[in-house]
Amino acid sequence: MTNVAEQLNLTELSSFRNLDEMYVAAKVCRACNLCKSRTNVVLFRGNPQAKLMIIGEAPGQNDDEQGVPFAGRAGKLLDKILESVKIDTENDVYICNIVKCRAPGNRVPTPQEVAQCKGFLDAQIQFVAPKLILLAGNTAIQNVLQNKNPISKVRGKWCDYKNGARVMCIFHPSYLLRNDSREVGSPKWLMWQDIQEVKKELDALNGSTT
Ligand code: URA
Repeated sequence: MTNVAEQLNLTELSSFRNLDEMYVAAKVCRACNLCKSRTNVVLFRGNPQAKLMIIGEAPGQNDDEQGVPFAGRAGKLLDKILESVKIDTENDVYICNIVKCRAPGNRVPTPQEVAQCKGFLDAQIQFVAPKLILLAGNTAIQNVLQNKNPISKVRGKWCDYKNGARVMCIFHPSYLLRNDSREVGSPKWLMWQDIQEVKKELDALNGSTT
């Protein structure tokens, strides 16, 4: 059940005036139990002016320790995928998560934890104002699009989102680490198709022909 303090918290979360204001609030957030086991609140990496945003699930152990999202094995693979199409991981993309604190044992965050953190993600989407958003894996897809279809059905297609942005669902890099095949039709092969499409759209937005 939501108590009054939590309700107040949720109200506050929706009224940030800019990203810095949100970062300050998030770093001291104690709205859910994840604050008890976290080392760091993990907010983002990359460029707040980027046209491309990638949203994952939640920080893992390395991310929690370093205070940076996708700092572990899955993140290394994500970077490799982006770099394979010359998407610069520092300048061309802003990377964040549905929830900002690690869930013990890397379990999936509960609906209540997601709800408590929603104001932070909303502020990121509002102030970064990306043109393209990639939702990596089921937790991101279900919570941003309220879509419960399996990822194999929804991945790889652009959908219109708020404020002129478009969203594409992609496989989570952790899933790709568990599915190593590169055969035609495999998750890694499909990711390769998706990231080339993302690069094409990003170049079109940047007016580039390369
Ligand atoms: N690290 C993150 O920051 N997000 C994920 O979804 C997985 C690992």
